[in-house]
Amino acid sequence: MSMLITDIGELVTCDETIDGAVEEPLHAGLGMLRDAAIVIAGGGEDAAPVIEWIGPAAQAPAADWAISLEGRAVVPGFVDSHSHLVFAGDRSSEFAARMSGTPYDGGGIAFSVEATRAATDDELRTLIAHRVAEMRAQGTTTVEIKSGYGLNVQDEARSVRLAREVTSEVTFLGAHVVPPDRRDEGGRAAYLDLVCGEMIQACAPYARWVDVFCEPSSPFAFDGEESRRVLEAGRAAGLELRVHGNQLSEGPGVQLAVELGAASVDHCTFLTDADVEALAGSKTVATLLPGVEFSTRQPYPDARRLLDAGVAVAIASDCNPGTCYSSSMPLMIALAVREMGMTPAEALRAATSGGAQALRRTDIGTVRVGQRADLAAIEAASWLHIPYRVGVPLVRAMEV
Ligand code: NIG
Ligand code: FE
Repeated sequence: MSMLITDIGELVTCDETIDGAVEEPLHAGLGMLRDAAIVIAGGGEDAAPVIEWIGPAAQAPAADWAISLEGRAVVPGFVDSHSHLVFAGDRSSEFAARMSGTPYDGGGIAFSVEATRAATDDELRTLIAHRVAEMRAQGTTTVEIKSGYGLNVQDEARSVRLAREVTSEVTFLGAHVVPPDRRDEGGRAAYLDLVCGEMIQACAPYARWVDVFCEPSSPFAFDGEESRRVLEAGRAAGLELRVHGNQLSEGPGVQLAVELGAASVDHCTFLTDADVEALAGSKTVATLLPGVEFSTRQPYPDARRLLDAGVAVAIASDCNPGTCYSSSMPLMIALAVREMGMTPAEALRAATSGGAQALRRTDIGTVRVGQRADLAAIEAASWLHIPYRVGVPLVRAMEV
């Protein structure tokens, strides 16, 4: 079965090579077509529908079904390449304390660990499903989900197993922090042994990625050598690498991610010139998480500095109970534009093709023939309304 989606006022493909793209500076790099149509085909139980044809609406071929978007804009579905959706418990009071001046240090993770361990599988499933639905309702079509609130073998394995029920982009983050019940003398080393041994073995079958919170300035997170050990153990277990780095202070996270060939280093809030240089000469994406700076009152990362140096940049939500309980990629785009020096076009690309690059995926993030038909429709004639009409729920993942 094929479907024609026509009367698209603006179709942002994020494919710079597409024929007929408008050549206006505002839309630079977006491969944007006006008055466009798409034909998609396939789908069903096992396979996602794919894009078969893209072009001017007036030249669209016939299809089994047709829908008119009546002039609305369409963008690639957002690729949210960083989230922590497997958790229970409420930390809104911690947010309130931060807004009154208490700094963030990762200590609140312990609260989420306790609540997550206490939840049943079905309670966690329901929480994850609500959060994924919330994301789709705001235009996200791919989400990466990390574990990291189990922090023992059984609850980490359960977290990646439940995440795997809703996405193929599952990340093992047993090295989120040293859990509260392991913070006594010697407990830290024993916990690292557990993470790098039994825990990785139990989680690897469900995960694609391994991640570590590399932040020597936090008493709960991991230093450079500890992080290296976790990443190398993950790689030996067949996992690909991602890193939480340079969130709270300058540190070894970025350089370690580059050295080990991680797909992405996320946060990048405090960077030295050497960090920027290392990223620029690498295949590691810098994933910026502006919702975190918004919700922790930290300074925003300098996206302009990274882009001007030639670094590949993605933006993601980091949706989690501590530093940013927002699942909204449109908000992240607006913050990136308003607070991080990105143009609207750069921010949109970072949230789509940038996210795909951070996940090393070539089948999503752009609208191209042969790619998955992951699309988001906007209740407006221009995609620019995403950052322009901040806070207004205009974007939805299309059900095709
Ligand atoms: O990405 N920094 C580490 N982990 C999360 C926050 C986790 C939490 O506070 O619950 C982050 O910001
Ligand atoms: Fe995170």
